[in-house]
Amino acid sequence: MPRNPAYETETKMKRACLLAAALTLGVTVPRAAAPTITVDASTPAGKVSPLLYGLMTEEINHSYDGGLYAELIRNRAFLDDAASPAHWAAVGGDGAAAAIALDTNQPLNAVIATSLRVDVTQASSGHSAGVANDGYWGIPVKPNTRYRASFFAKAAAGITGPITAAIESEDGKTSYASGRVSGLTQAWRQYDVTLSTASVTPTAKARFVLTVDRPGTIWLSLVSLFPPTYKNQANGFRPDLLQMLIDMRPTFLRFPGGNYLEGDRIADRFEWKKTLGPLSERPGHMAPWGYRSTDGLGLHEFLLWAEDMNAEPVLAVYAGYSLKGAFVKPGPDLEPYIHDALDEIEYVTGPVSSQWGSLRAKAGHPAPFKLTYVEVGNEDFFDRSGSYDQRFAQFNTAIKARYPHLQVISTVGFEHPESQRVRSVMPDVVDEHYYRTVEAFLIAARGQYDKYDRKGPKIFVGEWGAYETPFEPWNPRSRAEAPTPNMRAAIGDAAWMTEMERNSDLIIMHCYAPLLVNVNPGARQWRPNLIGYDALRVYGSPSYHAIKLFATHVGDELLKTHAADTDVLVSATRDSRSRTLYVKLVNSGNAAAPVQLDVSGTALRPTATALTLAADPQATNSLDAPARVVPVSSLVTDVTPGFRYAVPANAIVVLTLETR
Ligand code: AHR
Repeated sequence: MPRNPAYETETKMKRACLLAAALTLGVTVPRAAAPTITVDASTPAGKVSPLLYGLMTEEINHSYDGGLYAELIRNRAFLDDAASPAHWAAVGGDGAAAAIALDTNQPLNAVIATSLRVDVTQASSGHSAGVANDGYWGIPVKPNTRYRASFFAKAAAGITGPITAAIESEDGKTSYASGRVSGLTQAWRQYDVTLSTASVTPTAKARFVLTVDRPGTIWLSLVSLFPPTYKNQANGFRPDLLQMLIDMRPTFLRFPGGNYLEGDRIADRFEWKKTLGPLSERPGHMAPWGYRSTDGLGLHEFLLWAEDMNAEPVLAVYAGYSLKGAFVKPGPDLEPYIHDALDEIEYVTGPVSSQWGSLRAKAGHPAPFKLTYVEVGNEDFFDRSGSYDQRFAQFNTAIKARYPHLQVISTVGFEHPESQRVRSVMPDVVDEHYYRTVEAFLIAARGQYDKYDRKGPKIFVGEWGAYETPFEPWNPRSRAEAPTPNMRAAIGDAAWMTEMERNSDLIIMHCYAPLLVNVNPGARQWRPNLIGYDALRVYGSPSYHAIKLFATHVGDELLKTHAADTDVLVSATRDSRSRTLYVKLVNSGNAAAPVQLDVSGTALRPTATALTLAADPQATNSLDAPARVVPVSSLVTDVTPGFRYAVPANAIVVLTLETR
């Protein structure tokens, strides 16, 4: 047959295009001699730790106040700044005027010892004056939504109100929702009012105001505004943020820190007993990340949060070391802190007949929470006094004596010199923290944990995250960088997860940090962070999607894998009941990587599903583009024991392989 060069060129081009498309999409490729990845499904190599994928949290980046904790009023108890009523402003104009000041002579109680005095000097019907709060970077206004406003108020003689509560535009010209309370007296009383919006356009450019329409003096305390919360729980969580976390299917929640547990000074530690009970009994405290915490999200709420996610609490107890170097000497001085920790464990797990268990029941949760792991402190390798070994031992002995079933975690892992680690007893578990470059994770993913002693403590990687550039808080350029990581960082994260998953006989739990970030200017103290939000919106970073992909495709059996002559990283697991295999592949290269997948010891079905997170390394998500980098599902056909598969460039792939 005569040759037709034009036809041949076209055919070649078509073939090349088809191959390129196949490589990009990550489908089976009929080509020879691809590097081999073996997955041995004949016998499991071990068990996947049932708590492998979890979450770590602390108050940083306005994670709770201005984040997950749904309160909308900033500085609600007037305790944020002793010098002035931060985030509050007098409102009036058009024949109305008011002046505001902090007042320590009219305290609500001994805990909330400052109130706001509002002197309305001029006001009349239709011309009201009072006070406005600007919220956490705005007040989110949503259509057809009911908000619950509440506040304590009292009045000087001669004025009984009414007080109008309203959500309105920043300039006060548009009212989105309002309601009234009346009958003020000269004694403190709490008032409630429901504010309902109509079908308004969502905006966060709004404020919350309390006004009166006649001259006189009133005092305010604990002013609160809640939108609808997750499952309408009182004092609850922002539903959109919590749903993002639930979708990750975490198995545990490590709280309350992190640095937040320790505080800068001992007096600033997370004093859990002061975070319980009615909000009017919670003083809040100065947190180490530069702002005060309301403690509206206190110990009880942490536990409910874990429960809402069907996750187990991993409770970190204060261990006598604070960030600026103060420490409590082991021995008698440490005993009160140990009692405090034992009380805390009793609050979490004790029967209703116990002192602290009964308080938990009174707060609405008679059933004890499940608790397996207690962590003693946080990053105690920073304690240069060398006291941690003894402090840990003292806590460990006391905890084990009362709660022998609990597993106790030391905060100094094998990434630190032996001299800093706990030596006098063997901790059940050690917590290792890794904030690394992508390149460092790519190296660590090739066997860091192979070298670990399997007879030593188990490992909890209680904080980890890949960064593209080091975060320098003092450097304005660094502070201006995106608050959440890009695709390249997600590749580093996924590479590290393959290492942790492959070693999940040893790595019993791990969690990325920090988890949450309010992306408004001035709201954050760290980068990168997993999930970004403002008052109205939320998005997951590429790393969020990578973790979610891993955590939601895990099974319970570990399968042995081997990758030869390829940079593609792999981890494989199986669900022992359904016999479904999950093969995770990470290609950090800029070209597609064809591999031959030799799955032995099982009969595969001919089609499989690939979930692929692939993008330009610099690509990322944001509030305005939340879905630029998200997983894409595709069908893989012609699956056989030695099938060829092209892992796309810069990609994280989870193959779900069904068996017969
Ligand atoms: O995740 C941010 C901080 O990093 C944590 O508070 C601390 O434990 C670590 O140093």
